Amino acid sequence: MTNAEQKKKVIIFDTTLRDGEQTPGVNLNLSEKLEIARQLEKLGVDVIEAGFPAASPGDFEAVQAVAQHVKCSVAALCRCVPADIERAWEAVKGAVNPRLHIFIATSDIHMQYKLRMSREQVLAAAVKAVKLGKSLCDNIEFSCEDASRSEPAFMYQVLEAAIDAGATTVNIPDTVGYAVPEEFGRLIKGVKENVPNIDKAIISVHCHDDLGLAVANSLSAIQNGALQIECTVNGLGERAGNCSMEEVIMAINTRGGNFQVTHGIDTTRIYRTSQRVAKLTGVPVSIYKSIVGANAFAHESGIHQHGILANPMTYEIMTPQSVGKTESTLVLGKLSGRHAFSDRLQAMGYTLTKEDIDSAFAEFKELADRKKTITESDLEAIVGHVKRDTPDYYKMESFQIQSGNKMQAMASITLACDGQIVTEAATGDGPVDAAYNAVNRIVGGQWRLDSYDIMAVTGGMDALGEVTVRISREETQAEATKTEADGQGASEAEQIAEAERPQGVKAQMISHTGRGLSTDIIEASILAYVNAINRAKAETAKQSA
Ligand code: KIV
Ligand code: ZN
Repeated sequence: MTNAEQKKKVIIFDTTLRDGEQTPGVNLNLSEKLEIARQLEKLGVDVIEAGFPAASPGDFEAVQAVAQHVKCSVAALCRCVPADIERAWEAVKGAVNPRLHIFIATSDIHMQYKLRMSREQVLAAAVKAVKLGKSLCDNIEFSCEDASRSEPAFMYQVLEAAIDAGATTVNIPDTVGYAVPEEFGRLIKGVKENVPNIDKAIISVHCHDDLGLAVANSLSAIQNGALQIECTVNGLGERAGNCSMEEVIMAINTRGGNFQVTHGIDTTRIYRTSQRVAKLTGVPVSIYKSIVGANAFAHESGIHQHGILANPMTYEIMTPQSVGKTESTLVLGKLSGRHAFSDRLQAMGYTLTKEDIDSAFAEFKELADRKKTITESDLEAIVGHVKRDTPDYYKMESFQIQSGNKMQAMASITLACDGQIVTEAATGDGPVDAAYNAVNRIVGGQWRLDSYDIMAVTGGMDALGEVTVRISREETQAEATKTEADGQGASEAEQIAEAERPQGVKAQMISHTGRGLSTDIIEASILAYVNAINRAKAETAKQSA
């Protein structure tokens, strides 16, 4: 038997669309979630956790759509609450291989202060929930939330009961990122040795990165028998994020002798997936990020450059090509036609609808008038800016800006809205602030600019500037009162439901991302802001429909 045949396959469970979407400020719409799901499928993940259907109608709809569009297994998260489980099943049942992911906390601190339940109650709730899940779906994952701070003996008992009730995967989350690698590895070994029926289930781990140890803990778990890793693209997730998919995969590839497992990920798609997720979520990748950061393969010092030229392995433990990071090449010019344009996008791995190609082609033609050379990165940026799903309630018609170091900036903006053309002027601290103040005068409402990022898509004086903004609107008094009233007078199931209010429910602030692309950075800034407002309006319209 060869070495490769002895290796077991580790299941890659991607939770970018669920835990990753819980990243503060991230709010993906349906078509963005579907696009990420398609990218994940091409990347080769085994399971996509598409959302938490009970959290909101939007989550339900997204899980349902992902379930219908991809062939890999799709999981829906649910608490040990019958209504949650039934709703999750309703959303995910159309998948080729649906999975219900049922969780409840097993640490004393969570049971006492959050759930207000005894150990016996938690054990009973877990068994009841898994049995209900099993009556609907064969593929059941059960998670002991806050496992790394749970008393091991109690956790083993819950896991054994969950497997007896039908769980086929048992997940050990380091929910608060508290574990350290050796100890976490011992916990997994403990599960293997102390849960009598563990051979009937796959052991999974789900590590958070609060101490920067999520990848190390996941790798240690693999060394001790875990065969499913829960992770996210770019390490997105609650607080400090989750185990980063690209890091754990490249560690397995680069230091394979330590882990003895295989996986189904096509690593040459890692870079592109990371870039798309960063664009769609509006969370940029740090230049220092391992594997996918801009500096990950950059060599600045002369000594390093000399070594790299003599033999790349002097300073590179893996190649940029192995993660799909290749030089962006000149691809199309001003005279290229629609056919060449759509062929090129297809070769780059995009499957767009006719309407999306039309709108991307129009943007391409406009750009080709302003910019001499159009590269793959430009095309990627253009595709990323096709405004799928979002109607143009407001559309920028024109703008004029005056600014200088000895004057207050002034902006005059003209927007088309509802067939009307409206112009407003305002001053501000700089041209972007003035422009946003003028837009606010047209659209009204209490918008707060939470973040503003600008990035050059390619080098050169005529580079495209890409602006990403995140804006939020404070919850109105009426909305706040409703949220409080929802938590009153609870039964036991409702008690779990309320205590474990989905982490994905975004209370207080509702945040929206907008993107703008232009060779003129002020124009890109205005387009991004108007796009965020359009997205906010679209969401409000959907909620009140
Ligand atoms: O971090 C966590 O414990 C989770 C569970 C729901 C698996 O996200
Ligand atoms: Zn988590």
